[in-house]
Amino acid sequence: MKEKLQQIKLAAQAELEKLCDADQLEQFKVKYLGKKGELTAILRSMSGISAEERPIIGQLANQIRSEIETLVDEKRTLLAESAMKHKLEAEKIDVTIPGKKRPLGHTHPVTSTAREIEKIFINMGFDVVDGPEIEYVSNNFDALNAPDNHPSRDMTDTFYINPEILLRTQTSPVQARIMRDNKPPIRVICPGRVYRSDEVDATHSPMFHQMEGLVVDKNIVMGDLKGTLEVFAKNMFGNDTRIRFRPHHFPFTEPSAEVDISCFVCGGKGCRLCKGEGWIEILGAGMVHPNVLRNCGIDPEEYSGFAFGMGIERIAMRKYNIDDLRLLYENDMRFLSQF
Ligand code: PHE
Repeated sequence: MKEKLQQIKLAAQAELEKLCDADQLEQFKVKYLGKKGELTAILRSMSGISAEERPIIGQLANQIRSEIETLVDEKRTLLAESAMKHKLEAEKIDVTIPGKKRPLGHTHPVTSTAREIEKIFINMGFDVVDGPEIEYVSNNFDALNAPDNHPSRDMTDTFYINPEILLRTQTSPVQARIMRDNKPPIRVICPGRVYRSDEVDATHSPMFHQMEGLVVDKNIVMGDLKGTLEVFAKNMFGNDTRIRFRPHHFPFTEPSAEVDISCFVCGGKGCRLCKGEGWIEILGAGMVHPNVLRNCGIDPEEYSGFAFGMGIERIAMRKYNIDDLRLLYENDMRFLSQF
């Protein structure tokens, strides 16, 4: 009996050595110490042992049991330590490995262009203002001196919400809002979306962006308009840029002009960008019509002003040599990431 117990102890020790995880250790415990385990079996079979040997065997069995228990505890600690070590090893962070690059976006070319224009005018003392895209017909047309039969009022050209409200066709209604709400001196630019019922093609879109400019003060003359636009053009397209005024008509300015810049690719000689003209049209402008000042509560005898409006997409297309307006709205990263 004693030998058998010793054998069990030796076998247990040897087996314990080889265990390599907590599951195996559990199985081991069941095998040796469990209710159906080998030690228990011996203790159960003690009935066949002589009375004087029984306490000795009993004691030895209990001693071996507690020895094995101690060994199990030690092994458990050991296994836990090595498991932790493996885990730490596996999860080790190598701070010298280069980080994963997250692609960083940037502003859309239309937004970048608008900001660039804004910056130039802010440097000249202009404020940037905002106006609603859903606008009263009265602000979009009436206050701006547009005659009742003006073609742009037509249902086929303009998105009406009802007979009084439309999607603004230009940023010019902001002029009316600003003049009504503020006393001169006024010096503002206003970027924003405008809407026209146009078919989509390389140069047209039912939605595009404009930048409006308005200055009202005492003694504002056409020379102020020219000087301001020249500073803008030089800053935007390069210091050699010249500007040219061509007579035009807008209901809300008098006199009115279309303004060209000398081509910044060929300098005026004529090339592909300017289609051989040497000049590129970039905006409409003029002196604020006295009727408009009056409509907005400003005395045209005391004050005068100038206004201009440019298409932001058009400026972006000219500046970046983009030949199709649709590219700006397709959100193709291969295109957008170039800017
Ligand atoms: N609103 C005009 C347009 O959309 C541009 C413009 C603005 C012209 C201000 C003169 C003065 O074409």
